[in-house]
Order: sequence, then C-alpha cells, then structure tokens
Amino acid sequence: MVINYELIAEDKKTGARAGLLHTPHGTFKTPMFMPVGTQATVKTVTPEELEDMGAQIILSNTYHLFLRPGTELIREAGGLHDFMNWHKGILTDSGGFQVFSLGAMRKITEEGVHFRSFLDGSKQFLSPEVSIHAQEDLGSDIAMAFDECIPYPADYDYADHSTARTTRWAERCIKAHTRTDRGMFGIVQGGMYKDLRKRSAEEISAMPFDGMAIGGLSVGEPHDLMYEMLEYTTQFLPVNKARYLMGVGTPDCLVEGVARGVDMFDCVFPTRVARNGMAMVHSGRMNMKNKKYEKDWAPLEEGCQCYTCTHYSRAYIRHLYKSEELLAFRLVTIHNLYFLLQFMRDMRQAIIDGNFTEFRENFMANYKR
Ligand code: GUN
Ligand code: ZN
Repeated sequence: MVINYELIAEDKKTGARAGLLHTPHGTFKTPMFMPVGTQATVKTVTPEELEDMGAQIILSNTYHLFLRPGTELIREAGGLHDFMNWHKGILTDSGGFQVFSLGAMRKITEEGVHFRSFLDGSKQFLSPEVSIHAQEDLGSDIAMAFDECIPYPADYDYADHSTARTTRWAERCIKAHTRTDRGMFGIVQGGMYKDLRKRSAEEISAMPFDGMAIGGLSVGEPHDLMYEMLEYTTQFLPVNKARYLMGVGTPDCLVEGVARGVDMFDCVFPTRVARNGMAMVHSGRMNMKNKKYEKDWAPLEEGCQCYTCTHYSRAYIRHLYKSEELLAFRLVTIHNLYFLLQFMRDMRQAIIDGNFTEFRENFMANYKR
C-alpha cells in the first residue's frame, strides 16, 4: 500500500491518537488539518506561504477541476502537483458532495449522477468510474470514493437505500482504481441512523481502502448529534487506518473530533471567513471591520508566530478591510490557516505528552462559538 497510517500515541482517557501518515509525497503528522484548495489554489496564498505555515496535505475538488480546466489538461501538465506547484500531499474529494448539493440541477441513477455544469449549463455525468479516472489524472496522493452525502434531515428509507448504493459505488471505485502509486479512501455514510452507520462502517472497512472517511456529518444537524454519530461510527473502523472527518474544521469541532479518534479534517471555514473579515483566535473570532480595532496596535493574536502577527497590527488590518484592499484577505487567510495548523500541532503534542484532556478543557473554557 502507498498510504500507511502509523500509530504513535494514544490518549488514555479519550479516543484521541497521534500518528504519522506515509504518502507518496512525504510523511505527515496527525491529527492534521487540510487547507482547502478547491480550484487548484488555496485562495489568496502561494504554495511557499502554505509551506511556511506548516501545511502538510491540501484538499482539492474533482468536481470543479473536472469542469474547468478539465482533468485531462491537468494530466498533461504532469498532474496537479506540478500544475499548481505544490509538492507535498494532495487529497481530492470525489465530487460526490458538490454534485449532490446541486438540488434540482441533478439526477441520481444507479449508474451515476447526471447534472448541469455550474459554468455553462452543459450536461455532465459523474460516476464511480468517471470520478476515479479523473482523480487518477489529477494524480492526488489520496483519491476519495464516489459517494452520496445524505442531506439532513432524511427519512430512514431514503438513508437506507442511499447508504446501500454508496457501498455498491465503493466496490466500483475499488475496481476502477488502477494507479498503484496512489491511494484511495472509502467514505462511510448512514445519515443519522446508528444501524445504518454501523452497517456502512463495516462494509466500507471490509474493502481494501487505504483509509476511512466519515461523510454525511456537519450537514446541518445539531453539534451534539454530530458528536454522537461520530463517536458511534469510529468504534467500527479499523485502528490501523487513518480516519478522516469530511468538511469539519472549526476549532471546537476539531478538538471534539480528535477526542473521538479522528486523524484528518478539512474545511473552507478558515479561508472563507478570512474573506469576510473574521480572524480566528483562541477565544473565538474577531470581526476586523469593527471600529474597536481602529487604534489597536496589537497583533491579531498575542504570541502568534505567523507572518501576519509578526509584522502587522489589528489597526492596519482593519484599515485594509475598510479600504477594500486585497492584502486584507491574504493577511487574515495566512493567520487563520496558521492558527488552525498550530492548533493541530499543539493538540498532537498534548496527546503525546499525555495532556490531551487538560488541553481540551482549557480550550473549551476560553472559546466562544
Ligand atoms: N465533504 C463533506 N462531507 C462529505 C461527504 O459526505 N462526502 C464527500 N464526498 N465529501 C464531503
Ligand atoms: Zn497570526
């Protein structure tokens, strides 16, 4: 196998674990956060800047790259790593999430999903085979199986049939996977039904995937329900493979996900809110357009070692937002990503040092959602 998970330390009181993920583009420390680079770019920052922050793996989207510029073009460029000049890890989502959020714009059949391009309305088709082929053109280190993310709420019958189809599609993904130099993760679904989660986890775990993702969470359900479903699901996953909770990345969900045995996360949250003027800090978030920062000479967060905090004041960043200067987006994106990546490093160290419960309690006592 080209992707291997190596367990380094386990927390005694919770499910938290520290490990190493070996990939074709290096060995990376877990638990980890993967910045999102949907269009073959993490919005506003360069690969050099990502590397300086300590980013290890980034996530990109098959759906978007398939429609533009086309995955064949990226294959001609030498693959996504060369195309975007990022030579560490890349994980690609399969499109099985973006396509389902299209609502009336798509039709699901056993064969795959017919949909209209968001770019020009043209007819398009994605299936397990098409998605895996596209991801092999991209050359991502980790491809994701083509699944259906069940909306919330969904009735039992719908969730049951959809989960069974995700399992059949997973088998087709395994058959379609030809690149022995690249890995692939399966995705567990099951909606908010424990028996379906258990069945899905067992069926997907029985297939020769390199890692296991938990999908269909953080889709609008209450936090407590998400934690409950997550905790219930992870007990059926193999301990010797990485576990990836898809689409989750606020600090509170990261801590609670790690406590339940998750190793990998991704989310647009830190990059998206940066473009709305939000800076992430240990106490929660700050709206940098607020007048109270007009003459505030402190960095975004005291003690933060990121490029932004070591060179600029809150007052300057507020001024950039108020003047609609593009540098505002860059500086706060750099800080927010650094903040989350450092947060994961601190969490990993706490697990290794046997302090994870203290870390979790300290964090939760200071953090406002
Ligand atoms: N991103 C967030 N949730 C999901 C999911 O359930 N499936 C896929 N493929 N991507 C996701
Ligand atoms: Zn900073």
